[in-house]
Amino acid sequence: MSKANTILYLDGVSVSFDGFRAINNLSLVLDKGEMRAIIGPNGAGKTTMMDIVTGKTRPDAGEVYFDGNVDLTRHDEADIAMLGIGRKFQKPTVFENHCVEDNLLLSLKGPRSILPALFSRRSTAENKRIDDIFDIIRLGHRRGDLAASLSHGQKQWLEIGMLLAQDPKLLLVDEPVAGMTDAETEETARLLKQIAETHSVIVVEHDMHFVRELGVKVTCLHEGSVLSEGSLDFVSADERVVEVYLGR
Ligand SMILES: Nc1ncnc2c1ncn2[C@@H]1O[C@H](COP(=O)(O)OP(=O)(O)OP(=O)(O)O)[C@@H](O)[C@H]1O
Ligand SMILES: [Mg+2]
Repeated sequence: MSKANTILYLDGVSVSFDGFRAINNLSLVLDKGEMRAIIGPNGAGKTTMMDIVTGKTRPDAGEVYFDGNVDLTRHDEADIAMLGIGRKFQKPTVFENHCVEDNLLLSLKGPRSILPALFSRRSTAENKRIDDIFDIIRLGHRRGDLAASLSHGQKQWLEIGMLLAQDPKLLLVDEPVAGMTDAETEETARLLKQIAETHSVIVVEHDMHFVRELGVKVTCLHEGSVLSEGSLDFVSADERVVEVYLGR
């Protein structure tokens, strides 16, 4: 299989923790510009797969390539972030004591320390980037408010905005709608679809209503490898998926 048009290419990847194979001969390919939803039972290896892609965990075996020919197993976590892979963990980690806009400014790509980021004159290009991100994360009306005053869902959106400020090519988003209201969950599906127009995205979620809203190809992981892959209708009709996950 050619890596040419792929943003992420995993083949034969395995990793064990104390003899337990959390990822077992995993192969997963994401095309440039694609958004993929990853589902599967607790312990299936979804988060560990993201740990491998971001360099947090080293695979024992297998190939991991980014953007065609970049061998991620040769890079560390900081390098991989610089190469253009942004990751959102489940719990929002915003700067609570800064206003919403400053949270984005502090995340803008490029070497900068806090004081110049907040007080130096911003370029027109930076202002435009911030405005564009506000449009996507639906928080323009909260620019000047303390991040601490946002709802849980809004903090998740702000953190997605902070990822966008670093201009990644690939975003990895782990359980973004956990703890959100139904309205926030639906808005998050729209927001991610908008982001996916210009980025490659992997979303891990247990919320099947949300996954349906995304309307993208689904990969079901189980015991560290791919159990089923295809449209949500295809995957949810797969008896093995029903047995280990959806039918619980
Ligand atoms: N650093 C680690 N050390 C030891 N075991 C680990 C480590 N990371 C993951 N595991 C184990 O690997 C397996 C896969 O865990 P992982 O967190 O990837 O599952 P998951 O699919 O994200 O599950 P969930 O849906 O509950 O988030 C689990 O059995 C977990 O306990
Ligand atoms: Mg997980």
